[in-house]
Amino acid sequence: MSGQGFRSILTGSFSTPCADNPTVAMVEAGYHHAGLDARYINCDVKASGLADAVKGAKAMEWVGFNCSLPHKVAVLDHLDDIAESARLIGAVNCVAIREGKLIGHNTDGKGFLASLKTVTSPAGKRVVILGAGGAARAIAVELALAGAAHITIVNRDASKAETIAALINDKTEATGEAQAWSGKFSLPTGTDILINATSIGLGDPNAAPPVEMGSLTKETVVADVIPNPPQTRFLKDAKALGCTTLDGLGMLVNQGVIGVEIWLGRTLDSAVMAQTLENIFGTENK
Ligand SMILES: NC(=O)c1ccc[n+]([C@@H]2O[C@H](COP(=O)([O-])OP(=O)(O)OC[C@H]3O[C@@H](n4cnc5c(N)ncnc54)[C@H](OP(=O)(O)O)[C@@H]3O)[C@@H](O)[C@H]2O)c1
Repeated sequence: MSGQGFRSILTGSFSTPCADNPTVAMVEAGYHHAGLDARYINCDVKASGLADAVKGAKAMEWVGFNCSLPHKVAVLDHLDDIAESARLIGAVNCVAIREGKLIGHNTDGKGFLASLKTVTSPAGKRVVILGAGGAARAIAVELALAGAAHITIVNRDASKAETIAALINDKTEATGEAQAWSGKFSLPTGTDILINATSIGLGDPNAAPPVEMGSLTKETVVADVIPNPPQTRFLKDAKALGCTTLDGLGMLVNQGVIGVEIWLGRTLDSAVMAQTLENIFGTENK
């Protein structure tokens, strides 16, 4: 009876609420396709339960876990080490457990970067990021580390944009700039990449960030972090202008791929994972 292998590799996610997070379906489709005997357990963990959840994962010899809201900063207290970009971002959404040690990573910006690289390189580019929340900060750091030349952060609350711009100026080779956002935003001439990293458009196919679309050219690469609906109003309007566009599904899929590479050293099939998400979110907005 020995060697039957009735023990699966364990991974998963800690967040709350967690019921609408489709990552489990996406990652397990990838595991199944790769023939891996691995599971991804989507756990509802309240803020007060994080320490016990982390101890439990360690005790059960999970190889790693994702953490989402509200744990991305709180989990820092439980780590033995932290990767460079996650340290700059100041938040961790992916933890690897190796020989009982917990190592924190941030795959938000890395997932975006992998998706962006399918259409263009950020090296030497001028980038504008709308929003200054966790997603914007992670994307700004990864694009700066990947060689972007100039990154402008545009946000209603200008102080949040200034914090990210200062981080880019102090800790990377890129130039960071902050701009307060009121009324319709006009894209500066010479911008190569425009990214919506606000939550505008999430679950609402008609909502779009207030941007003067006439200030874009068809050479502008336009990306949205919103995964659902994948084809946001913003992307549809940009596509109508002839811009190359990038949806938020690619970022989500690549985060899953990168997480599993960190945990297992295996690269899952991104097309299988993307198809799983498209089946869940529906393709009517494609
Ligand atoms: N595709 C993926 O894999 C992926 C990964 C991570 C996040 N996301 C998505 O990214 C989005 C942002 O996430 P987050 O964690 O960065 O959220 P967050 O920290 O709450 O930040 C939200 C940002 O959106 C801005 N914002 C919200 N409503 C606005 C409005 N009406 N007008 C102008 N700005 C507005 C906020 O501006 P103020 O600061 O002025 O309030 C803030 O900068 C979410 O929708 C999330 O689903 C996607």
